[in-house]
Amino acid sequence: MALKLTLVRYEPSMSVGNEELDGQHARFFELLGDFGSALADPYHPITDPAERAAVLDLVGRLREYALFHFGTEERHMQECAFPGLDEQKRAHNEFIRSVLAFERDLEAKRPLAAVKIRDFIHDWYRGHILDADKKYAPFLTGQAKKGA
Ligand SMILES: [Fe+2]
Ligand SMILES: [Fe+2]
Repeated sequence: MALKLTLVRYEPSMSVGNEELDGQHARFFELLGDFGSALADPYHPITDPAERAAVLDLVGRLREYALFHFGTEERHMQECAFPGLDEQKRAHNEFIRSVLAFERDLEAKRPLAAVKIRDFIHDWYRGHILDADKKYAPFLTGQAKKGA
């Protein structure tokens, strides 16, 4: 099964007007791509301990990268006085909480297909970049009046 089919790559149209943050968004999608291609059959519930360990490792790396990115992003939003900062922080926290719940499921050996985790992270994050993150772009680039 060609898992790559459902993947979306970073495109310039996703730009939030800041090179550092655009680069991080692109890297995040790359990590998701690694996740998709790491397993022979990501559609089957994970039962093999080695496979579970590999998925846990990948999910952990994605979570760490997301935390690093959210930190950078929140700092930029603060610097340009973006009024939606609290909402963004809430969404970022919710994302991390959900990823931690997946990790707990894996650690508890619950039958979970890797693709479910990958799709959740992918859909959530893609929606977030294309919607919530886009909203701070005019503030970062100075097109919006600060505090407006
Ligand atoms: Fe972001
Ligand atoms: Fe964000």
